[in-house]
Amino acid sequence: SEMNAVAPDIMQGAFTTPLPTPEMAVSGTSLNAHGMSGSVMPGKSGSMLGYRNGILGPTIRAERGSVVTMPFTNGLTGETNIHWHGLLVPPAMDGHPEQMVKAGQSFNYTFRIDQPAGMAWYHPHPHMETGRQVFMGLAGMFIVESPEERALKLPSGEYEIPMVIQDKRVDASGGLVYNPTMGEVMIGYMGDTITVNGAHAPYRSVSSRTYRLRVLNGSNARIYNLALSSGDPFTVIGSDGGLLPSPEPVTNLLLAPGERADLLLDFGKMNLNGEVFLQSNPFSGADSQGRQGFKIMKFVVDKTESDSFALPLTLTNIPALSAASAAKTRTFDIGISMEGSGKHKMGKKKSMAGMHTINGKTFSMDRIDEAVPLNNVEIWEFNNANGDEPHPMHMHGTFFQIVSRAGGRNKIVAHEKGWKDTVLVMPGESVRVITKFERAGKFVFHCHNLEHEDDGMMLNFQVS
Ligand code: C2O
Ligand code: CU
Repeated sequence: SEMNAVAPDIMQGAFTTPLPTPEMAVSGTSLNAHGMSGSVMPGKSGSMLGYRNGILGPTIRAERGSVVTMPFTNGLTGETNIHWHGLLVPPAMDGHPEQMVKAGQSFNYTFRIDQPAGMAWYHPHPHMETGRQVFMGLAGMFIVESPEERALKLPSGEYEIPMVIQDKRVDASGGLVYNPTMGEVMIGYMGDTITVNGAHAPYRSVSSRTYRLRVLNGSNARIYNLALSSGDPFTVIGSDGGLLPSPEPVTNLLLAPGERADLLLDFGKMNLNGEVFLQSNPFSGADSQGRQGFKIMKFVVDKTESDSFALPLTLTNIPALSAASAAKTRTFDIGISMEGSGKHKMGKKKSMAGMHTINGKTFSMDRIDEAVPLNNVEIWEFNNANGDEPHPMHMHGTFFQIVSRAGGRNKIVAHEKGWKDTVLVMPGESVRVITKFERAGKFVFHCHNLEHEDDGMMLNFQVS
């Protein structure tokens, strides 16, 4: 039945398309959300969305301390805006769902980059339409650089690869299809066609040396359990808010929608025969997905090259926020509630399945759910102990540290040891995070499963 929706089987591709590198952009580059004919599969093209040429948007790079201005035009027929996910921007620039840019109108996003080097991203945030607009192609990466990070001499230039991983559904001609059933609103809309930088089943030719992979899970709902087909380890050096204190070697990494992972892969040290796949391994804990393993992209190691790169033992200093310094603990029950008010996005009244809620409430644009004193240090607990679905919970306007995870996996995993803005809360889990609210304004907190978000799993908090 539609209430028991499962993730579709993955279409495995040929891995014969070269991995596209998104255009590089700097402050001043104009972004124009618009519909066009694009292609995610060789020989097919159809309807999708983008910010410049083709699907997705450019990879924007900016220096810590600089002022960035991004002139934006809404070339769509409905409202949209841009949320700078992982950038600490003033509230008026944050792309809150009440800050819409009407069709045909323009807005200049401008803000100072005031945070450590790291990997943010940008995407639309119109309430009940975020899922559709992101799925159809509106997203891009935003990289913050700094002298401190450059001093580490991490692989750069052709040895640094930005990767936006997304799952799509493609119609016969090659256009993208976004048409979730009620069951898919419950589990999130998952595609059968995995893309990287907007291309299905790509490959990248590499040398036998160390590369930096900047990985964003830009999918609406799909979680990837990233691993190498050779079983070789790789190293996590950074997360949502920048570098980790020290490198974390792993053989797999669960990356949820909205999360970023900064990875080092040494193709010279792998146990392989000229090629290796980045893949997603099966995982447990989420009924509707995780049962299948599949390949994401292929690396073809066709050049011999050594590098003098030495992995530093210390990457950055992250002062720990101590739980004892928290002035308040807030608990958020995340899941399905029969008490939810309003309607699902497709206009049906709340059904037997209820609505996605936080503390029993669906999103209301004008209601302030949490009033937070400026500069308060607080623990926020995300409680999914009784739920069946994974929820990647995202806070705007601040980065947090993870204090603890109870139930389910029962531990803090590699990429969670630095500054985060999104944390995966699996069924059965209760995750505590700590943050200091240093920016005044009205921000949202929501699930980054975009169907859950559009279904109302979001609230406003006001820092003042
Ligand atoms: Cu990337 Cu409010 O989201
Ligand atoms: Cu969710």
